[in-house]
Amino acid sequence: MDIIGGPASQLLAGRVSNILKNNLLISDFKRFPDGELYTRVLDDLTCDVVTIIQSTVTDSDFVSLLQLIDACRDVSRINVVIPYMGYARQDKRFKPGEPISARAIAEAIKADKVYIVNIHDESILDHFDAEAVNLDSTPVIGKYIKNMKLMDPLIISPDEGAIGLAKNASKNLGIDYDFLEKTRHSGEIVSMKPKTLAVKDRDVIILDDIISTGGTMAETIALLKSQGAHEVYVACVHPVLSSNSTLKLFRAGVKEIIATDTIDKGVSVVSVAPVIADALRAQ
Ligand code: R5P
Repeated sequence: MDIIGGPASQLLAGRVSNILKNNLLISDFKRFPDGELYTRVLDDLTCDVVTIIQSTVTDSDFVSLLQLIDACRDVSRINVVIPYMGYARQDKRFKPGEPISARAIAEAIKADKVYIVNIHDESILDHFDAEAVNLDSTPVIGKYIKNMKLMDPLIISPDEGAIGLAKNASKNLGIDYDFLEKTRHSGEIVSMKPKTLAVKDRDVIILDDIISTGGTMAETIALLKSQGAHEVYVACVHPVLSSNSTLKLFRAGVKEIIATDTIDKGVSVVSVAPVIADALRAQ
């Protein structure tokens, strides 16, 4: 199998190819003078199977992924790994006239098999023409948490959507979990339903799939601190960390931000490469 790392997932593609000992092909990513993207796979495709690894954090990342898929269309089998799938949060028509953006993105991706890491909602998998698989990174996040020196820890899900993550991550650790209920008022503003949690003098890890504006985490940190939590850590699968979110988290009192490398950021201390490698090996 050949592996192609897209521009947004070079580190992760490198790590996956290290584990699997497969060819890692080099591509060229640049722009034409008018701003359009130019993509070229520089190495020859040598195998019947190619795996393209590319997160779609930005619109350009999505175009790069489509270009890479098209460049490989003569290969017998194309696997596409989208560690972080952008637009997945628009998985419904919330207001009349809106698109289901996750469906539009999924339908544009032509491949034989698609792998996504902790997709925002599993219903999105049905929109792909190809067999689409959701990979769970909570075991590797849980392993990281296990090695932290924490005082009587508790894992908190900041909303009902992330309860499954908190449950799975805590499962093999012998750590309890609890959850909050969130109301989103706008893209940036959220509020938490008041709830008393057993956090006094305990270290708490808030776990969510995505940190974007940081609004969800900042509100949760404030609530936990007001209830006497000792240190508050935030952990997520996908560190989108847009705009000034990192500053917001530290101002709210976070001790450390923990994230995976589905998006390559300074806080990406947990690698999902073993999770992706296992899935590719098993196919
Ligand atoms: C929402 O459903 C997600 O699970 C996250 O809670 C959300 O994307 C976080 O966004 P933000 O950091 O902007 O509050």
